Amino acid sequence: MHRTHHCAQLTTADIGATVSLLGWVDSIRDHGGILFIDLRDRKGITQVMFDPKANAAVGEAAAHLKAESVIGISGKVVARPEGTVNAALPTGGIEVEATALTIHNISDTPPFPLDDVGGDKVNEDLRLTYRYLDLRRPKMRKNLQVRHKAAKSIRDYFDSQEFIEVETPALFKSTPEGAREYLVPSRIHAGQFYALSQSPQQFKQILMVAGVEKYFQIARCFRDEDLRADRQMEFTQVDVEASFVTREDIYALFEGMLKKLWKDVLGTDIVTPFQRMPFHEAMNRFGVDKPDLRFGLELVDFTELFKTSSFKVFASTATGGGAIKALNAKGLADLTQGELKTLEEIAKSLGAKGLAFIKVEGGEWKSPIVKFFSEAEKAALTAQLGVAEGDMIFFAAAPWEKACAILGRIRLEAAALLQKRGKLTIRHDDWKFLWVVDFPLMSHDEAENRYVATHHPFTAPVAEDAQYLDTDPKKVRGQHYDVVLNGMELGGGSIRIHQPAMQKKVFEDVLKIPADVVESRFGYMLKAFTYGAPPHGGIAFGLDRMCALLCGTTSIRDVIAFPKTQKGQDLMAQSPTPVTAKQLKELHIATVMPE
Ligand code: AMO
Ligand code: AMP
Repeated sequence: MHRTHHCAQLTTADIGATVSLLGWVDSIRDHGGILFIDLRDRKGITQVMFDPKANAAVGEAAAHLKAESVIGISGKVVARPEGTVNAALPTGGIEVEATALTIHNISDTPPFPLDDVGGDKVNEDLRLTYRYLDLRRPKMRKNLQVRHKAAKSIRDYFDSQEFIEVETPALFKSTPEGAREYLVPSRIHAGQFYALSQSPQQFKQILMVAGVEKYFQIARCFRDEDLRADRQMEFTQVDVEASFVTREDIYALFEGMLKKLWKDVLGTDIVTPFQRMPFHEAMNRFGVDKPDLRFGLELVDFTELFKTSSFKVFASTATGGGAIKALNAKGLADLTQGELKTLEEIAKSLGAKGLAFIKVEGGEWKSPIVKFFSEAEKAALTAQLGVAEGDMIFFAAAPWEKACAILGRIRLEAAALLQKRGKLTIRHDDWKFLWVVDFPLMSHDEAENRYVATHHPFTAPVAEDAQYLDTDPKKVRGQHYDVVLNGMELGGGSIRIHQPAMQKKVFEDVLKIPADVVESRFGYMLKAFTYGAPPHGGIAFGLDRMCALLCGTTSIRDVIAFPKTQKGQDLMAQSPTPVTAKQLKELHIATVMPE
């Protein structure tokens, strides 16, 4: 049986036609012996009627069908009787009277409902174990389609800008400067390993030395990270590099890509150019380098004010080089004890010593700390935080970056609590794009007591800051930029170092990587740069994250056909698994189990 139509195709214009359809049994309704089956394929649903009085053999066979069985039917398109028309379906005006039935496979009863509402309620592990069923749900099918459309839009865009897609290896060498890598043992070279590529970073720079000038790739990347809703061990980047570009060129190129993408996939016009914000401003105002600009609740700095305070906790932090930050969660004075406790625990998990607060209720400031505040301090808080009845103020006193991070997180939690109360509306389709710029080139790693690259060691310093590389590396800004959308880091990149001497200096003098290690890890790159490396720069976007936002979901697992769980497992095929002693021997590997 060959299909003549798909299941979202037939309308009243087809009445009288003889047709054949193929698909899955979506639902079965028995109306006194007459069976109505919703037949589903990837396009939609058509109602099929089996009447044993009209066709006994077919009616009898249909009686054995179960939901999710795969069948083919032939029959005649008829108008649905008055009152049974379903205007919500494109095929809702007709049904097909079956005259032939082919049963390809009877399905067992699925372990969970395959509609959107029912499927959303079940445990995600069950969905991942039976991913092939989960992917039959309309919502998941739509997510796969959005992802396809997004990838096509992106490829078309870069093609139109004369970029070419070049594939780079997944099996690369170990260069442990970024995230933790996956190692792959070599059978041929005993005791030696490849690393799965964390990103095509080094290859794309080499492609610039090779004269490609405009490269892009929809590239699979591998990182052995702790997984979260927005992180997978293997994920996909839209990776780009171009020669002879400035930061402005990259901003314009990517704004163009995102504009087309949002138009192609959602039909939405997004506003370009995007807002830009220096890293320090993002931290000071929003407590994070990926601010969600869909709502206010901004942080305010009171370090100066509290330097002379009689509240010792604040005064000692302020005079000792730390910062005092406050945030007015407007209208959240009705916070419950339990909610307050949760917020305190969150703050403590980020290293806070406490979460001081003021609750403004009945015209009074209810707080364990206001008794220490002078009238001048109260007046300054009122003025700068716009304190009013019903407000809830939170404070963090800590080293600057920590104080920002603590209140940045409390800001998000407070927004969620206000949203739950209907006091704040945050729409998923309120697209607030932002470039975060002027990151410090280096951050100081306290644990290792050395500088580490904020982005990666190939990022070029801002030209006028390069003079401080030797004397005060934390003063040097990098030519690095991140694109942020609604609190999610969508992508990041930089203008790169292209002079071998400068690259060597960053590795050896600033990052303090011993010269022989630099030579063994990056020697090939430094060498390539001695043969005419053009100035270049680029960026990489998380395709999974972008698709999640386009689909209105917060988990990238919803836009990946076969994702891993938070614990890095594939519940469907069941991996990882032990392997045989023979396989290990071939790879010259012995395993040592943890205690
Ligand atoms: P970066 O490490 O910032 O930059 O990665 C770029 C983007 O990739 C996405 N991303 C992830 N998505 C899902 N799961 C993960 N584990 C994960 N890790 C990163 C994010 C991120 O913004 N080579 C540089 C780019 C460059 O300089 O051109 C790089 O990889 O959306
Ligand atoms: P204490 O004087 O330690 O009893 O603290 C008084 C209030 O200030 C309590 O609500 C603490 O949670 C809070 N607090 C203490 N240390 C800090 C800090 N570093 N930042 C913000 N709040 C703090």
